[in-house]
Formats: sequence, C-alpha cells, structure tokens
Amino acid sequence: MNSFENKDGILTAGNVNVLTLVKEYGTPLYVYDLEIIRKQYEALKRSIPVEVKIFYAMKANPNPSVCSFLRSLGVGAEIASSGELYLALKTGFSGKDIIYNSPGKTDEDIQYAISNGVHFINVEALDELYRIDAIAKNERRPVKVCVRVNPIRAVTKVKMQTGGGSQKLGIDEEKIETVIETALKLNWIELQGIHVYVGSQILEQGVLLENIDNTLQIAARTAKQFGFPLKCINFGGGLGVPYEESEPEFEVEKFGKGLTALIRKASQEYELSETCFILEPGRFLVSYAGIFLTKVISMKESRGKKYTVVDGGINHAFLPIRMNRKYPTAIANKMNLPSDKSTIIGGPLCTSMDVFTNEVELPQVELNDIISIFNSGAYGFSASLLYFLSAAMPAEVVVQNGKHFLARRRGKKEDFMLNCK
Ligand SMILES: Cc1ncc(COP(=O)(O)O)c(C=O)c1O
Repeated sequence: MNSFENKDGILTAGNVNVLTLVKEYGTPLYVYDLEIIRKQYEALKRSIPVEVKIFYAMKANPNPSVCSFLRSLGVGAEIASSGELYLALKTGFSGKDIIYNSPGKTDEDIQYAISNGVHFINVEALDELYRIDAIAKNERRPVKVCVRVNPIRAVTKVKMQTGGGSQKLGIDEEKIETVIETALKLNWIELQGIHVYVGSQILEQGVLLENIDNTLQIAARTAKQFGFPLKCINFGGGLGVPYEESEPEFEVEKFGKGLTALIRKASQEYELSETCFILEPGRFLVSYAGIFLTKVISMKESRGKKYTVVDGGINHAFLPIRMNRKYPTAIANKMNLPSDKSTIIGGPLCTSMDVFTNEVELPQVELNDIISIFNSGAYGFSASLLYFLSAAMPAEVVVQNGKHFLARRRGKKEDFMLNCK
C-alpha cells in the first residue's frame, strides 16, 4: 500500500482523508500524491552517478500538475508525440530539456520538434533520418540525433518487451552500420550516440543492468568503429514497481551501485569522459503516487460467484485493470476490517473484458463503498480507453502535505460531442 495511510479505518493520501476528496470531487477519481513522486525521484537520483541524467517519460502520467512538479525537481522530459511535446513546453520544460522517441514521427512532428529546439531526436529508421535531415535543412537548424538500437541479445524476464527479437521499435543492431554511416554524412545531422530501451516493468535490477551493460558495449563499439565522439548513451526506462504481493521491490540502491560500476568499467575500455548518460523512467517515478478511487454501484451473485460493479472501468484505468489484474486493492472506508470475503470487481461497461480482478479478498462490500486501487499513478488515465462507451472521463486530483486541488476536471457527457457536427 506504500505511502498511503490508514487513519482510524479511513484511507488517507498525502495526509488528506480520501473520503473528503470523494465528497468534493466525486468518483471515479485519480489521486496523485506529489510527495511520493518526490521520494521516488530522490531515491533514484541519490543512487545513480551524477553523470546520469533523468528524463521523465511523460507517457506514464502526462497530467500537467505532475509534469510541472517533476520539472521543478530537475528532471528533463522524454516525449513520444507532438501532443506530449506541447504539454512539456506548457509545463515548464524548454527544448533543451526534451528528448523525442517514436517509431512513427510525421514530418509535422519532426518540424515541430526541431523548431522548438528539442535536445535529441532518437532516430528509429533510415527513412526517418533522411526526413530529419531535410527538415533540419529547411529550418536552418542542425539536429542532434541518437540512433535507437534494437539489440541482438535477447532480453529475458521482461514482461513488456520493446527490445530484442523482431521489433517495430528502433533499428536492428546488425543493421545500424548503414544508419550510422548515413548520419555521419548528412550535413544537418549531429550524431550523438545510441539509445536502447528493452522494456517496461523490469523488477530485477540485475536484469536491467545486464541490458545496460549490453547497451554500453554496443554504443562504445559503434563509436570506436566509426570514429565519432560518443556524446550520449541513453539506457531508456523500464524500472518496475511490484503490483502483486509476490513481486519484489525494485532495488534502486543496488541498481545505482551496479550502474556506477558498469560506467566505470566501460570508461576504462573506451573514451567516455565527454559522454552524458540518460535514464528515461516513467512508471518508477509516478506509479506509487497514484490511487484510483471508484464507488460501488451494484452487487450481485452469479452461479456461485460474487460480483461488485463499480463506476470506473477499463475506460478509466485500462492498463491497471487489464495488465495487472492483481493490483493492491482496498476499501477506503473500511481499512480496519479484515479482508476475508472474496469478490470479483468489474467496471460499468457492457463487456466481459471490464473486470478488475478475477477474485480479490476484501472486507464485506456494500453499496457506495469506495474501492481504492493502488499503484495507479502510471499508465492509468493516459493509457485508458477514455472514449469507450462514452462514459465521462474521471477527474484527477493532486494532494500534497494535507492540501489538495483539482488537476483535471471531471469529463462531461457533452464532451463526447466536442469536435463533432
Ligand atoms: C522510449 C521509452 N522510454 C521510456 C519509457 C518509460 O518506460 P517505463 O515507464 O517502463 O520506465 C518508455 C515506455 O514505453 C519508452 O517507450
């Protein structure tokens, strides 16, 4: 349950009684505690060497209040669309604090990124490299580029894999020579280094380190082979958080020590004194900080199984519900009661996909109880099917040291006519 507390049987978030939040802002509701984000950031920052810079992967939680708070802590932004770039600029990041990844950047996206002076663009295909060069020429602005590599070495024990094997993402390691040679020849491209992101939700720090070791080797070997100064090695994100009781906590201090050792070792073999190293965590920074609160609106029994239907479903919390079906769950108004009754919690949508958990142990559920799903701060609101079945979007609230404010207003049914005839 992390930093949320049980005070006299009621759940609190950032020292605020969540039932007060429900009364004021309604349900379904996301609540983000900024102090937990700070704790996560500081734990990571403290552990890693100073030459490693943190760029927050905005896709994990693009709420503007969350982004500007992270900006105030000193992180950069990793963006994956023009929409995210717009948000990053609006929330206080300047171009030089932003790096841009995406396997499908349109010319308009590239032009928007270049005209706003993003720090790096990570190139994911040869055709894209030519387009970046042409647009940079048009803009009369040279562009710093890293090549995103899909490594040969298979990644193991990674639930959500984005590197290794056949991928839409990045350029296969065995094919990067052409891309590097081209990048070095093109007039408006300034080749900076290599980017590798192998996957999300990696719980074992050792697994992430193995991949970072591999990335260091690929980057250093490539720079040596082609004789360009290695200005940047980007290790991507992927630091996981446990969703089920059986899953281990990511050991951030051990990770930091391991990372320091790997960089030191590589620096003895290769010239890395001018190299900047990058991590792009999303989930690790914001997941713990969020809870999703949803109200019980109906209960029934069907052929021996008990069902609890709540007012928020996969339209509001798609990934929390579908990908991690055993999220830590509690009843916010019954924190002191024993969890000894099992029920299946489902959202209000008319699809059998809309089920939170196949069976969860909770105190006796009653109408109007507030179900709380922890670890919902990452890939919650932003990765949901927000238009599915036209149910109004949830509100988002920020809490911090006993204070709270509305960070995104609740959607309205009228919103579904926006931009329509
Ligand atoms: C290129 C890139 N970097 C970083 C991240 C963040 O990953 P995570 O939230 O697992 O740290 C993602 C997530 O999809 C990504 O695509």
